[in-house]
Amino acid sequence: MNRRRRVYEGKAKILYEGPEPGTLVQHFKDDATAFNAKKHDTIEGKGVLNNRISEFIFLKLGDIGVPTHFMKRLNMREQLIREVEIIPVEVVVRNVAAGSLSKRMGLDEGTQLPRSIVEFYYKSDELDDPMVSEEHITAFGWANPQEIDEMMALALRVNDFLTGLFLGIGIRLIDFKCEFGRLYENEIMRIILADEISPDCCRLWDVETDDKMDKDRFRRDLGGLVEAYQEVARRLGLFVENRPSEGSGPVLVTSK
Ligand code: TMP
Ligand code: ASP
Repeated sequence: MNRRRRVYEGKAKILYEGPEPGTLVQHFKDDATAFNAKKHDTIEGKGVLNNRISEFIFLKLGDIGVPTHFMKRLNMREQLIREVEIIPVEVVVRNVAAGSLSKRMGLDEGTQLPRSIVEFYYKSDELDDPMVSEEHITAFGWANPQEIDEMMALALRVNDFLTGLFLGIGIRLIDFKCEFGRLYENEIMRIILADEISPDCCRLWDVETDDKMDKDRFRRDLGGLVEAYQEVARRLGLFVENRPSEGSGPVLVTSK
């Protein structure tokens, strides 16, 4: 069925050659993995939800001037994106202790951090994405100091914006991971936001109940992943009772 050239296949997405040079088609699969694919399953409907949620977030970020690779949605599972040279570093921003930070520092999950913390991980499945410092990033030539500053500044802007966006719909942004790429245009190189931002790469907790509305439902065998992602989409104003609704905007959730 797919006659397009596959450029890259990751754990949750496939990239195909796009219709124009410099473009790619990003296809969201239903596969869910954790612990670098040691745990794997197929969760029907996840790809469609992540495609839609990531589109919404990238468009909103574009509106506030964060450059992203997103161009347009093509269908339920695919979006047209700009081809970039991916920087092999995952940038994690944390607001509240959870996951590997809680483990590493002995902090209870849910402990508010004194300020947002930015961490870097080297993208390598074989090595289980080890945490690295700016020293490693520059010494091994993955990015230069200016590029690191740019990634940190953009990641913190994304964090500020998403924290407010999610709080308005009754969700706490605990942490998230993002990736950046280099875009070459008329001899000028820019760092732009790439990959995806979806409940697969964020921790999202309901403000009232602390219920997890993200991939921890899969990592920790809590069940109800699709229902949780659907609820995130619904609160963002993307789906009403499973029916796609065009741009109705976020649904404001007020506390009782
Ligand atoms: P961590 O607590 O496991 O280090 O994860 C921090 C955040 O980064 C969390 O929101 C999940 C996300 N993340 C990914 O998106 N991909 C990954 O490979 C890892 C390890 C974390
Ligand atoms: N890198 C992990 C995996 O897909 C993802 C995660 O735990 O979020 O195996």
